[in-house]
Amino acid sequence: ADPDPLQDFCIADLKAPISVNGFPCKPSSNVTSDDFFFDGLIKEGDTNNLFKSSVTQGNVLAFPGLNTLGISMNRVDLAPGGLNPPHTHPRATESGIVVRGKLLVGLITTANVFYSKILTAGEMFVVPRGLMHFQLNVGEEKALIFTAFNSHLPGADVASLNLFGSKPSVPDDVLTKAFQVDKSVVDLIKSKFGG
Ligand code: GLV
Ligand code: MN
Repeated sequence: ADPDPLQDFCIADLKAPISVNGFPCKPSSNVTSDDFFFDGLIKEGDTNNLFKSSVTQGNVLAFPGLNTLGISMNRVDLAPGGLNPPHTHPRATESGIVVRGKLLVGLITTANVFYSKILTAGEMFVVPRGLMHFQLNVGEEKALIFTAFNSHLPGADVASLNLFGSKPSVPDDVLTKAFQVDKSVVDLIKSKFGG
């Protein structure tokens, strides 16, 4: 979904004082082999949290060599019962491959139709750009997925965190009306997500 590059590479200078629509390139005289390799997805993420899951991002911010190339990857670790909670990527289509475990992978269209399947190692999925989706570990073991995106910075809006964990917080009046529940329910959910 990103624009096409206009040069072989443009290793991001993440500290440059200007940022227009992306990142400027560091001078090619400073480019080394290391700029084209990234080991940040080697390690299992810490799943000791509310969702029992962890997304390790291999986007342009982590791996500046991806700058302007229109691609990136994540590593998703899920403990048994762990959920990568419903979220959207505003700037990318996602595809993923299960490396280990058994997961319910689901997505919901803009027409509110829900599609899902249980996947195991070697199976792939695709989430069209911008659609809400999740992965739930339904196996007894840890699960591991690698995902790929057609953006160097796909962005992720996690529905629960977005609405109930924003700073400053979304007014209760908006959320009670949106979800047709009492303020006590909204405040309870907000308390889980720091909103
Ligand atoms: C999984 O949905 C991911 O965004 O990496
Ligand atoms: Mn995703």
